[in-house]
Amino acid sequence: MTRRRHLTGLAHTLIAEIAGPGDTVLDATMGNGHDTAFLATQVSPGGTVWALDVQSGALEATQRRLETATECRMELRLLAHERLQELDTGALKAAMFNLGYLPGSNHLTTTRPITTCAALDVVRDRLLPGGRCTVLAYIGHPGGMEEAQAVETWCQRLDPALWHWTLANPPGTSATAPRLFVINRYPTA
Ligand SMILES: C[S@@+](CC[C@H](N)C(=O)[O-])C[C@H]1O[C@@H](n2cnc3c(N)ncnc32)[C@H](O)[C@@H]1O
Repeated sequence: MTRRRHLTGLAHTLIAEIAGPGDTVLDATMGNGHDTAFLATQVSPGGTVWALDVQSGALEATQRRLETATECRMELRLLAHERLQELDTGALKAAMFNLGYLPGSNHLTTTRPITTCAALDVVRDRLLPGGRCTVLAYIGHPGGMEEAQAVETWCQRLDPALWHWTLANPPGTSATAPRLFVINRYPTA
């Protein structure tokens, strides 16, 4: 299994620990829809999945992946996640960011530090107590290292009375591996 797939699976495991039927969740980078489909399974029946991307190809790929009926409300939007504020998602139990570019597409349309952190600001304001956000950051492409560093700086600025964050990479992971940030809001916060 590649490091990328391993960390994607770990992100799913971590979200599955806290999100369940009826919850409202966000996929901030829809891509080919793997995370969106996972979230739909997780919050069914009765939940809501919001999923965003800036590329119509991502929306189409995700719609194809979701062809079998889901038992939850799907809100797929062609919208940059830094504009999340415009959507009336209500409170979120979980959010996932899988940063970088769409595999199989051009590598120029990629997430960026400023817009990623702007979206994280909105998620921070909407995440429920006991909620969790995962951010998988890749550092092998131009700008990737800067983005991972920006996410880490963003995490370091969280109020430690309300938030706990960690890097979930397995011990011994190389410095060039993707980084999985796990951001938890304390249940009583
Ligand atoms: C690594 S892919 C996501 C993979 C996806 N979660 C999956 O399960 O297949 C990153 C995605 O982020 C999207 N993206 C780039 N900038 C964005 C932005 N500002 N807002 C939302 N999505 C963005 C890209 O178009 C790309 O599809």
